Amino acid sequence: MSDTIARPAETARTLPRILPPMAMLAELTHRCPLACPYCSNPIALTQAKEELSTEEWTGVFAQAADLGVLHLHLSGGEPAARRDLVELTQAASSLGLYTNLITSGVGLTEARMNSLADAGLDHIQLSIQGVSPESADRIGGYKGGYERKMAVAGWAADAAIPLTLNAVCHRQNMGEIDEMIELAIRLKARRIEVATVQFHGWAERNKEVLMPTREQVERATRTVAEAREKYQGILVIDYVPADYYSKYPKACMGGWGRVGLNVTPSGRVLPCHAAETIPSLSFENVRENSLSSIWYESNAFNAYRGEDWMPELCRSCERKKVDFGGCRCQAMALAGDASATDPVCIRSPLRDRLTLEVEQLSAPSVVPMNYRGRA
Ligand code: SF4
Ligand code: FES
Repeated sequence: MSDTIARPAETARTLPRILPPMAMLAELTHRCPLACPYCSNPIALTQAKEELSTEEWTGVFAQAADLGVLHLHLSGGEPAARRDLVELTQAASSLGLYTNLITSGVGLTEARMNSLADAGLDHIQLSIQGVSPESADRIGGYKGGYERKMAVAGWAADAAIPLTLNAVCHRQNMGEIDEMIELAIRLKARRIEVATVQFHGWAERNKEVLMPTREQVERATRTVAEAREKYQGILVIDYVPADYYSKYPKACMGGWGRVGLNVTPSGRVLPCHAAETIPSLSFENVRENSLSSIWYESNAFNAYRGEDWMPELCRSCERKKVDFGGCRCQAMALAGDASATDPVCIRSPLRDRLTLEVEQLSAPSVVPMNYRGRA
């Protein structure tokens, strides 16, 4: 279903001045030993044989540095599944890129951690699925994962690599946020990012199990506020609240094609991790075109830049430069139209229907989790 708000003619578009991207997320691989039911990777995972080679990734990093990228996030899947992770980190670091490894920890050893430190790794984001082996290993679908994460955090501290814990929160673990924050303190993390699950990718298939309740969300917001006060100057707590319970949508990716880009394991360049769910777009590949040309000129990146593409509701709204009309992939998933106002917005004609749906999805359910890659 789509909203019916009139759109400007496609031919009359005015693009804003396009600045260089600040950040690039390199999805080195989709391979991963874990099977989180909210994984943001696409349902159709890229096979190992299709992945960019070491030389290809190194070339992409060099292009990114030339383009003006400052932060390189080495992600996956599990980036440690790449045998050349240290080599890739070294290459990125020598190009002057700030390197951040986003990892489950599984696949890292103490020796490898020390090699990453020697290669110039600037920062680690370690995911946690829960605060005990029971909950973490159940949600991550990997026995022994929790113990490995605890060891990895220790090795990171010993190697003096700054650590952030990444906690994706949902109905199954939202009651553990206070303990997650305590865990971050114990593990000597400098920051914890508590992000409520986004319903793209595998999470979309698990809405009935993962949708938090209103009560959980309200409690989580209070817990975060109290912890921020308690640990001021000790731990930075970033919190991404559940936008399904918010009045306004988030500025997804800081606005489409404004600050960052993603490169998939096989080299497709996307404005966000879920962009391939928008069927009207096609995406160019670094094997065939330069990163610069894709960023500045490709149809996919230009599709939702500026304001001309916006429905009248957003174009005439004072928040259009705050949230840029919300998330395009969420509009696609919920409204069937990627250029609709994000249905999370209180002004969207679809908001009431969404509220009802969220209430139904957050009710107790006995549906089993649909683990990534095992569906
Ligand atoms: Fe944001 Fe559009 Fe809603 Fe305004 S109408 S708050 S720009 S989504
Ligand atoms: Fe694609 Fe929000 S996830 S724009």
